[in-house]
Amino acid sequence: MDPYYKIPYISEIADRVYTNKDKFKWHTGRRQDQHQVMGFSQTYIAQDSFLKYISKKIPGTLRLFKFPPTCYYRWHRDGDNLYNFNLTFTAQEAFVLFENTNKDTQIFHAAITPVSTLKYESKNWYLFNADIKHSVYNLDNEWRYLLTYTVPRTTEISYLEALEICKKFVAGPNGFEPLTSSFEDWHSIQLS
Ligand SMILES: [Fe+2]
Repeated sequence: MDPYYKIPYISEIADRVYTNKDKFKWHTGRRQDQHQVMGFSQTYIAQDSFLKYISKKIPGTLRLFKFPPTCYYRWHRDGDNLYNFNLTFTAQEAFVLFENTNKDTQIFHAAITPVSTLKYESKNWYLFNADIKHSVYNLDNEWRYLLTYTVPRTTEISYLEALEICKKFVAGPNGFEPLTSSFEDWHSIQLS
């Protein structure tokens, strides 16, 4: 099973958030190791077809982070989140590595760990399994911005269930139509 899943539709809010990125109030995180917009407006959720759909099935919080140029975020599992829905804004020299638990590590030398790579396509949402050990590399000379809808470990929806919910969204009734009446009708049927 892949540690991520791409939702292949362009987000309606990506450009707006990116345009306003320098107008938000940025703070460093609780351990002084992350740059985050505190109190990021949750009203963006209703303006994005995918987030609107997901948020009705999976409670979470929309956050905006940024990471400095030419650095990497060390290997970790997310402390608070079981999985996230992630979006980046521009094509950058940046990627995520996951430890690949599907491969039999016994066949590798002790110093070698198999990995899977995620290179985000900008403005697409990705379901991201934050429970699998990962590290994030920004080799670009520009700051890297990440919009993320985080789902806490206390969630009742597993990663696999979230994956199925994403696949239903992608399949749709007749393909995907963003924020149209037919989409809304289909969506309300799903909720009933
Ligand atoms: Fe992480």
